Amino acid sequence: MITKQKGCVDIGGDDSILYEYIRNVVAHMMTSYNYSFIRTPIFEASELFHRSVGVSSDIVKKETYDFQDKGGRNLTLRPEGTAGVVRSYLENKGYSLPDVQKYYYFGTMYRYERPQTGRLREFTQFGVEVLGSNDPFIDAEVISLQYKILEALRISNLQVNINSLGDNESRMNYREALINYLKPHIHELCPDCQERFNTNPLRILDCKVDAQNEIIQNAPRTIDYLNTESKKRFETVLKYLDLLEIDYEVDAKIVRGLDYYDHTVFEIVSLDNNEGSQSVLGGGGRYNKLIKELDGPDSYGIGFACGVDRILAIMKEMPFYQDFKESIDCYVMYVSEEEKLYALEITQNLRLNGVITETDYLNKGLKGQFKAADRFKAKYLIILNNEDLKKGLVNVKDNATKEEVKVDLDELTEYIIGNL
Ligand code: HAM
Repeated sequence: MITKQKGCVDIGGDDSILYEYIRNVVAHMMTSYNYSFIRTPIFEASELFHRSVGVSSDIVKKETYDFQDKGGRNLTLRPEGTAGVVRSYLENKGYSLPDVQKYYYFGTMYRYERPQTGRLREFTQFGVEVLGSNDPFIDAEVISLQYKILEALRISNLQVNINSLGDNESRMNYREALINYLKPHIHELCPDCQERFNTNPLRILDCKVDAQNEIIQNAPRTIDYLNTESKKRFETVLKYLDLLEIDYEVDAKIVRGLDYYDHTVFEIVSLDNNEGSQSVLGGGGRYNKLIKELDGPDSYGIGFACGVDRILAIMKEMPFYQDFKESIDCYVMYVSEEEKLYALEITQNLRLNGVITETDYLNKGLKGQFKAADRFKAKYLIILNNEDLKKGLVNVKDNATKEEVKVDLDELTEYIIGNL
């Protein structure tokens, strides 16, 4: 038997109800905040990710799915959504439009990771990218939108961990201080960190192996190296978050695993779930320099992405999860061929009027159909029989109270809608 690939999941059954629910809540919130949906390709030129996510990032070094197509092009399955959205913004000259461009996406991403709970090779993210404004208003809006979506999904005990990497000058000053601090200790860190020291020393702070090592714990903090302007900017972001009543903690260790960030960086964690990195439900930050690095004009960008699979896992543990084990509205029951003709019509009519309706496709007897209706948790049973149909009537049974009434065939849909 052919089985699914390692690190992939099938989302079906009750999980798919939750998945669709998440998608609807996300779409609803994004619409209120006036973000427009964007769908970019699942594969892009490999170079796009090398230049954005960064050749020294773990993602590009170890985790991308790279391949050559039949035309010899070097392609990569997208490991994240930001690069593709920025590429599309530049290709379609979004920067020439008079307004700030606010995009949201919902789709699968691919990283060749060591699979474990909450860490998959194919996973789903939703996220936003806002292009064209450097106003701290947008930083606060993006962070609060992420928070409010998770809150709308009834995920409680959320906390935003936030930090600032500052502008280029601040980053360079910090980099130098970090190198000077790490130099005498570098041989005490893992081999990956020793390599990162030469390629991208900031990445050492993000190391999963050495996270608890005292050397890393006592490393200099980015926020102590912010120049006046960057510091003022960060303080404004925090002030706006206070105003929006978002719970945050300044966490100087956050540098994030992708190379494109500057200024504000953040992650959102569920304090109810303390299983390390899986408790990180989302993250993001500002990436002002990325647009230029992808051959665009001087511009600004910020965004976040949340992991749908991690959110789904948390929602499954919540008591209200039972509410999602959906019931249907009606089950239409029939036996004879004549009754079946009515069943076809009635079922279609109810469905087209928004009534969730199921019927029998296996020529079961009435007993089997009653059992099926219970399995679907049907609220109403519509039991067709020739005699009543000839008089223009149908039997409707309330499956909770077991009360049965005869309803005029022409008024059936209205009756059901009125009683749901
Ligand atoms: P990221 O931190 O790499 O950021 O991913 C965002 C979220 O996606 C994570 O917090 C996690 O919930 C989920 N995630 C990441 N990898 C996996 C995985 N292997 N399995 C399951 N879930 C995963 C980004 O992707 C940036 N593009 C975010 C961003 C948008 N920055 C600016 N704009």
